[in-house]
Amino acid sequence: MTVQIDHALEEIRRFRPSPEFAAQAVADARLYQEAEGDRLAFWARQARELLQWEKPFTRTLDWSNPPFAKWFDDGELNVAVNCLDRHVDAGHGDRVALHWEGEPGDSRDVTYAQLTDEVKRAANVLTELGVGEGDRVAIYLPMIPEAVVAMLAVARIGAVHSVVFGGFSADSLASRIDDAEASLVITADGGYRKGKVFPLKPVVDEALAKAEGGTVRNVLVVRRGENDVEWDASRDHWWHETVAEASNEHEARAFGAEHPLFILYTSGTTGKPKGILHTSGGYLTQAAFTHRNVFDLHPETDVYWCTADVGWITGHSYVVYGPLANGATQVLYEGTPDTPHPGRWWEIVEKYQVSILYTAPTAIRSFMKLGRQIPHEFNLRSLRLLGSVGEPINPEAWIWYRHVIGGGSIPVVDTWWQTETGAIMISALPGITDLKPGSAQVAIPGISIDILSDDGTPVEGEGGGLLVVTEPWPSMLRGIWGDPERFKETYWEKFGDKYFAGDGARRDEDGDIWLLGRVDDVMNVSGHRLSTAEIESSLVAHPWTAEAAVVGAADETTGQAVVAFVILKASQVEHVTDVSEAAEELRRHVATQIGAIARPRQVFIVNELPKTRSGKIMRRLLRDLAEGRQVGDTTTLADTSVMTAITEQVR
Ligand code: PRX
Repeated sequence: MTVQIDHALEEIRRFRPSPEFAAQAVADARLYQEAEGDRLAFWARQARELLQWEKPFTRTLDWSNPPFAKWFDDGELNVAVNCLDRHVDAGHGDRVALHWEGEPGDSRDVTYAQLTDEVKRAANVLTELGVGEGDRVAIYLPMIPEAVVAMLAVARIGAVHSVVFGGFSADSLASRIDDAEASLVITADGGYRKGKVFPLKPVVDEALAKAEGGTVRNVLVVRRGENDVEWDASRDHWWHETVAEASNEHEARAFGAEHPLFILYTSGTTGKPKGILHTSGGYLTQAAFTHRNVFDLHPETDVYWCTADVGWITGHSYVVYGPLANGATQVLYEGTPDTPHPGRWWEIVEKYQVSILYTAPTAIRSFMKLGRQIPHEFNLRSLRLLGSVGEPINPEAWIWYRHVIGGGSIPVVDTWWQTETGAIMISALPGITDLKPGSAQVAIPGISIDILSDDGTPVEGEGGGLLVVTEPWPSMLRGIWGDPERFKETYWEKFGDKYFAGDGARRDEDGDIWLLGRVDDVMNVSGHRLSTAEIESSLVAHPWTAEAAVVGAADETTGQAVVAFVILKASQVEHVTDVSEAAEELRRHVATQIGAIARPRQVFIVNELPKTRSGKIMRRLLRDLAEGRQVGDTTTLADTSVMTAITEQVR
């Protein structure tokens, strides 16, 4: 197998689209020329053709106050109507929108007509609970159909959702509720994960006790885990009672294209997560355009499956808004890939005849480790397109994905984008672009990407530097919730009118783009963003910790892993008899404070940290240690003997 892959890597650096695929492809090579000729006219056409506008727009882009863009801003639409009612009106009410699969094996098919009905009822309940236009609603749910319903019901009434991933802790949830001043939380009693029910409502109760703002007036609870929950009758409402009883008549109002749609918190370079704000018309246009063209969606025949949780941007754009705007039929799966057996995903592909699969390199690499015999027990011949997102996909994983999962000849598209970009920015178009394993390849039509050196000079031809977006795009973030200054500083200060993505990139001799990872203190663990500063401040909040430094170290499966170096307080050192127990306690502490995804792979208890004369921690040296390399140049350290001492403590 390895020999075969090495051979394939050497021999085949590029894959031409098959003529059969190209003949039926949704995307058309002329899209590039059209967008190059008149970028704004191109996006205006997409917005008109892909969406239903209650009031047509006449202005495409207003960039008179950069970096605050307005797209299609005199137009009006209702996002939920675009995802639901118009498909029913077009006669597709009986089409399955969601093939939902619960982790224990229960399942439900929800048609477009049923989903529309449920969203209308939920919208009425939200209104009855006092949620109005512009109000924020926090959503903390497992991957169940109600998560999709909740998001669309909020959108339908012009409120703003803030979905918080179900793996985040009470503290993380509380700070997000406070920052957005949410007035309602939608949650479940619990959900299934790894064969067990994980509680959600108790976490919400704890978060609300911690939230300082006291803004939440009501909690709407879906019954899923059937676990015991405490009940505050003045605040808590069962979904199955209120939504079922509500009327399914709901007249949707149209809102301006720049009406806020959602806030999604993501890690930045400071300890405080940023509330990334997205609005309606531009976001939905680019989500729908990319979903249709990058995934070659044929809504009448395809069964699409994006494995991301709705708690992340991928779940927003490619589980909810893109696919539903396009009238797709998709799979929604509640659980983990290996429960109750390691072939669970492939069993689902076979059961629903999935034709398009979109997932993350981490998942692919963990399947690679388990071996090809597991997927080979299932019939995966329905697959005709594979996608990857979240982190660079190494060529070996790309080839394995195409061969073992895809049967050897179907397109694999590697898609680069971010919470901030809202939708895919760099990707091959299947059927058109020659595919190159390991490279995200080219900007999609209508998107202008460049690579700059640190002083802002464009890198001509082949070469590496910093990735920027040079022109505003429809699904771009409109700001950071409540913090316009941070928005400007983080993304626009470095290069003026160009959006600085925070990623390093290289352009090869063919003009294809290779992503090289983050250039700031943001880590990427299993395709999820974590900030070194946020984990450091959590470690420092522990009573034992005097100082902490966190680095992202290369990890074979998860891309990067969190590795922490901690100095204990002198007053604590004598009480800590077992260093590994202390390390374990600190790992647990981070998981409780932030969420299990942030739990460090390793915590090293050390006596000192490497610092420059000005007191800055040299993370580069710690990264060398964490990755098992010879430690690099230490000449700028205030005390060069420190690294020798740390190395001895760590090894
Ligand atoms: O570093 C890039 C990496 O993920 C970051 C964005 O993370 P997030 O906002 O959580 O969104 C993830 C899903 C869109 C980027 O700055 N990243 C994302 N996709 C790729 C990638 N790195 C390399 N290749 C990709 N395809």
